[in-house]
Amino acid sequence: MLRIAPRAGSVLGGVVLAVACHSSGGGGTPPPPSQVSFPSTFLWGASTAGFQVEKDDSNTDWSEWVASGKIPSGDSPDVGGPDALDHFDDDIAALTTTGQTAYRFSIEWGRVFPTQAAFASATPDPQGVAAYDTLLQKLTAAHIKPLVTLAHFTMPSWLSDGIPANVSQPQGWERPETMDDFTQWCTWAATRWGASVDWWVTINEPLPYVLGGFVQGSFPPGDVLNVSRAIAIVKTQARAHARCFDAIHAADTIDADGDGHAAWVSVAAHLRTFHPYDPTEPDDVTAAARVDYIWNQWFLNAIVKGNWDDALDGSYTEANDALGDPTLVGRADYIGVNYYSDTLISAHHGLVLPIINAAVYEADLPTGRPKTDFGWDIYPEGLGTVLDEAASYGLPMIITENGLADVADANRSRFLLEHLYQLGWAMQRGDPVLGYFHWALVDNFEWANGYCPHFGLFSYDKTTGARSQKGSVATYTSIIQSGQVTTAQIDAAPAYVPPPMECTLN
Ligand code: BGC
Repeated sequence: MLRIAPRAGSVLGGVVLAVACHSSGGGGTPPPPSQVSFPSTFLWGASTAGFQVEKDDSNTDWSEWVASGKIPSGDSPDVGGPDALDHFDDDIAALTTTGQTAYRFSIEWGRVFPTQAAFASATPDPQGVAAYDTLLQKLTAAHIKPLVTLAHFTMPSWLSDGIPANVSQPQGWERPETMDDFTQWCTWAATRWGASVDWWVTINEPLPYVLGGFVQGSFPPGDVLNVSRAIAIVKTQARAHARCFDAIHAADTIDADGDGHAAWVSVAAHLRTFHPYDPTEPDDVTAAARVDYIWNQWFLNAIVKGNWDDALDGSYTEANDALGDPTLVGRADYIGVNYYSDTLISAHHGLVLPIINAAVYEADLPTGRPKTDFGWDIYPEGLGTVLDEAASYGLPMIITENGLADVADANRSRFLLEHLYQLGWAMQRGDPVLGYFHWALVDNFEWANGYCPHFGLFSYDKTTGARSQKGSVATYTSIIQSGQVTTAQIDAAPAYVPPPMECTLN
């Protein structure tokens, strides 16, 4: 979801730079293992998000955005989507028949509380509540563990103001009442569903969210290059997350799965690797380290350590900074890791963002690596790198998203083997990972890019909604069943092929 720079090739004329392969083992560590294993307790699943798979999620900022013609392809989640609320049994069958044991999905705040009056009077929409009640009952009956996200990019439309026309008005997280309202939403959801949910994500991907909405302009409200506004929202989300964490723990006291924890609460952090565009250029090296800090560490430092770096400069010496802030520290029971790909950073070339002082390249990188239909590098080693780095927080981790746009389903099998090998290897090095959720269970509405990218393990019939398992899923199931990945399997897997089509980044 990081789409903020012009194409690398167009900016630098297709210069091909050698990007050092990040060996996750590091110096002095044992060579890559020939086999990695996963414990029998490991959670294996897939992810979705409400707005991307449901129809008629029509009381959100995103539904206003779509209705105002902001999706270049003209696609709408209400037409031709997987319609998850009418296909619970199909999706649960997709999970169970392929050996998966867990499902990450979002509960849509704007569906449960379509109006401010309904929210203020704690009078939810009966159909909205019934839908999620039913899904959770069916998941429990099928022995599938739910991992529930409470804000996956959408906000109720009653927290926005005439999007997209009033782009400069305070929207969503910027409104003074949102912090209290979100906390109340967390309390309400955890009270209602805590008996069947133990795993919670408060907010999905704070950084990509603000990049889309306030820097790149492809998400509501559609502001462009407003980095200071974006940063202010990320700061609000860090504090909102901490309050939601407390609210969920206060309300969800029922241990649904008997593991001794009533609630595991975190964010889903989008972690990436960052490399200098030109490794021989000292300013690029410095800029890559700075963006890595802001993107991968700033938020987690705040909610895990309570360390508040207000200027995002890597120091804690200014007046508004804090170490161990009691209102923030310890607000993660695990770290949710969404990992997709690598990023190149330049200090001088291309669209240098204000405040960040760097140009960010995430598609069509001149690295020689295989690409997805989105032009993203397939870079499995990066998963090991981000896990090694995030392990320093001393918390268990869950891969809450990892996947690729692959309309031909030609590369997903090898992608799964290579990423799960890196994951298993990271665990062998001591990184405490409890589960893996592939993005996505089923093809879906990919935000600004509509239906072009196909991220699903399953496709669906646009008329009947019937799910069809893609060929690559056999690989996922065999890994789940054997609990291991071997280098021999990777060697035997079909080589990556270039994408047959490209979904233009919007
Ligand atoms: C988001 C998903 C999205 C996926 C693929 C993640 O950043 O959480 O909603 O579909 O990336 O772009």
